[in-house]
Amino acid sequence: MAKAAVVGLGTMGPGLAQTLARAGMEVVAFDVSEDQRKKAPEGIELANKVLTALGVPDRSKAPVKIAGSLKECLDGATMVVETVPEKLEIKAAVFKEIDALVGKSCIIASNTSGIPISKLQENVSAPERVVGMHWSNPPHIIPMIEVIAGNKTSKETVQWMVSTIKDLGLLPVVVQKDVPGFVENRVLYALLRECVDLVDQGVIDAEGLDTCVSWGIGYKLSVIGPMALLDMAGLDIYQAVGSYLNKDLCNRGDLSPYVTERTKAGKLGMKTGSGVFSYTPEKIAELRGLRAKRLVAVRKALES
Ligand SMILES: NC(=O)c1ccc[n+]([C@@H]2O[C@H](COP(=O)([O-])OP(=O)(O)OC[C@H]3O[C@@H](n4cnc5c(N)ncnc54)[C@H](O)[C@@H]3O)[C@@H](O)[C@H]2O)c1
Repeated sequence: MAKAAVVGLGTMGPGLAQTLARAGMEVVAFDVSEDQRKKAPEGIELANKVLTALGVPDRSKAPVKIAGSLKECLDGATMVVETVPEKLEIKAAVFKEIDALVGKSCIIASNTSGIPISKLQENVSAPERVVGMHWSNPPHIIPMIEVIAGNKTSKETVQWMVSTIKDLGLLPVVVQKDVPGFVENRVLYALLRECVDLVDQGVIDAEGLDTCVSWGIGYKLSVIGPMALLDMAGLDIYQAVGSYLNKDLCNRGDLSPYVTERTKAGKLGMKTGSGVFSYTPEKIAELRGLRAKRLVAVRKALES
């Protein structure tokens, strides 16, 4: 049985670990924080319930084990998924530690959202076995995973990762150039830049923006991708609208004042009780439940 080591048990680690375990892998996970190690079983259990609701077959052979040290976590691993904070210096240090502890044939994958894989490869002795495995949040619900090769990743490693993701019952997408943000986050951040700017300019309020995007293009895009949408609308329409609209779209290279002001005031979103919107703990619990339920229903509909 393949053995996966998951390093980092924050937002992404528990759901990711349970998805691997449910597909039949032996999974051992570790977090440097004892607190996170204690909290992880709850997140793993929650992810398992959602996977059951999704109808994902339960091929698990053993529950996810939480290791007390990185060494114990990595012992005998055939694949490591690093999912520690998105800071190059933290990831580089973790990669060095992993490199010293894994066997020669172990694949080292990173769940980085956009740090170039080529930079992470600099920290290991066998860079050909390093690959990006970028899950979407929540990792136990969103089936698409970006696979990214760095400058030194071998073709075999990319192929191995693609077939492993298929074996998990998930959807690999190969990103052919190691560009910052890869593809999913480049598209998301292009969208977010325009959305934040529209709200900042007073063109629409935050609630109206979300309704417009979720029930308009968002809903449509989950069925018809942007490139297929071009064909559906007609390339001549894109040409006509793009000829005046493209130059009017937000293209600022710095960060928007709207987000910067809130960040400075400690308004970071759900985790601080306010950001764009305001939240009580009860509201957060309600939103999490409702969103998971709806994402499960949409995924089932898309798979039907
Ligand atoms: N949160 C998201 O929506 C999302 C989506 C896709 C990808 N990612 C990526 O996944 C990675 C993790 O993101 P997250 O949101 O789960 O972060 P997080 O901050 O919630 O969790 C990271 C965890 O790593 C632990 N950690 C720190 N140093 C460590 C070390 N040396 N060894 C072991 N554990 C260590 C921390 O204690 C923390 O629990 C990042 O690269 C992020 O960009 C996040």
